[in-house]
Amino acid sequence: NVAATTETAAVLVVGSGIAGCSAALAAAREGAEVLLLTKATKPDDASTDWAQGGISTTRGDPAALTEDIIAASDGTADPDAVDVLVEHADAAVEDVLLDTLKIGFDETDSGEFDYAREAAHSENRILHVDAATGTHILRPFLNYVDDHERIEVRQDTAALELITHEGRVHGVVTDEAPDGHPIYAGTTILATGGIGALYSRSTNPDDATGDGIAMAALAGADVADLEYVQFHPTAYAGNEARSTSRRRDGAAKQDTFLLSEALRGEGALLRNADGERFMPDYHSDAELAPRDVVARAVETEREATGEVVLDVSPLEFDAEFPTIAAKCRDRGIEGDEIPVAPCEHFLCGGIAVDDRGRTSLDRLYAVGECARTGVHGANRLASTSLLEGLVWGLRAGEDAAGAGADSDPDPTGVDAPDLLNRDPDLPERFAAEKFERLQRTMDEYLGLERDPEEVARAGAVLRRLKGEVDAYTRTRTARDLYELRNASVVALLIARAASENTESVGCHHVVGDEQAPEQTADD
Ligand code: SIN
Repeated sequence: NVAATTETAAVLVVGSGIAGCSAALAAAREGAEVLLLTKATKPDDASTDWAQGGISTTRGDPAALTEDIIAASDGTADPDAVDVLVEHADAAVEDVLLDTLKIGFDETDSGEFDYAREAAHSENRILHVDAATGTHILRPFLNYVDDHERIEVRQDTAALELITHEGRVHGVVTDEAPDGHPIYAGTTILATGGIGALYSRSTNPDDATGDGIAMAALAGADVADLEYVQFHPTAYAGNEARSTSRRRDGAAKQDTFLLSEALRGEGALLRNADGERFMPDYHSDAELAPRDVVARAVETEREATGEVVLDVSPLEFDAEFPTIAAKCRDRGIEGDEIPVAPCEHFLCGGIAVDDRGRTSLDRLYAVGECARTGVHGANRLASTSLLEGLVWGLRAGEDAAGAGADSDPDPTGVDAPDLLNRDPDLPERFAAEKFERLQRTMDEYLGLERDPEEVARAGAVLRRLKGEVDAYTRTRTARDLYELRNASVVALLIARAASENTESVGCHHVVGDEQAPEQTADD
């Protein structure tokens, strides 16, 4: 029973960060008509816009970048996936970011690129614009795809469910009023980003509710590595709560923002409440050790001494990092010491994909943070997320345009899920309250350290919560409820993955399975 208003697209992209824009661009370049849906209403609803440090290049030494990615992942990254990333990195940056979008990456006085360094990189190879690189990439990228004659961008539109038929994906149902709106597609590319909204403190926007991962998993797609939730070691740790939520009023998230690793790359130091620089005691690379090592050390020192600060006195902070400095000044920090704590930053796992972003379901692709390419293994190297979104976005978009060409989106015989909005009387606090419970559970039991008993407890709480949420989503199409449904599905998958992996590796740290202490310079 296909509605009279049936809408079709050759290639349907869901998400408007760097991965979604890259996929749309590549598919359009192949001649496909592309519809890009995004629930965003402004650029900074996408995590890309929040990315600070930059985008890694190989700087002429692919072997060294490969080695750094694999070392940061504790040897768990998939070498074939890393090869794909590294082999295509420089060409993708040159083609899209330099030639097409003409991004003005920072340069030195002599007119060379000012390559930056971040933790676990063996050399300076990161292109950046101030420490607001994501904003400077995404805004021109969005304008470019919006102006493209073969790409339609539709904002403020959430995908709620995948349309599936006999193992193949045929598009999505959106939340367009009143009852949900099916869009049938030759190929569908999920680029929906991460899961920051599952935790009370995250460097992601509120929109990061794990939508693509949940929709794909519910449709039967393979997911992998979901226990590998990366926590950034240095997020602002102010005390005041500042709700950034536009839809979940009441579920106030704590005020936080990223203090880029580039600060430590340029010499900023971590000190505990006694003023001691502690990182040399934890790792021979001190402040530039892999992210998971620094995050756990910061948490240990916070617990032992009460506070950890990032000491930016070795830098020309205001001059070199004006965007971050302005955020600190805005919160009344005048000196050189900024209180920091680890917070949720990036999901290394996601929907399992191959080297072209193909999922286990026919005609369904996934790119960017919602995808698990294997590049990051158990811990991602800094400034490889924009790069992965760019490289896999281009590869998936190109492939999807080809795959879509032999399969006009023909909805005949394919029913979209029935999402009738039977009861618009949504108790206002329902979604906010459930989100709060979900965040508390994730914070307490599925944070930096995982105690197997607590992980099991989290699983039980999350199963109950998902049951309550399911009862609501069966009768209502409100976007908040679908975001909550998605968040609870992904939270449960994370709890399950964490309970099944009893080995401490990368950012999955199991209490009772302590990793061998790192060798320090003095050992
Ligand atoms: C940062 O600027 O510290 C974040 C970079 C990244 O996550 O890749």
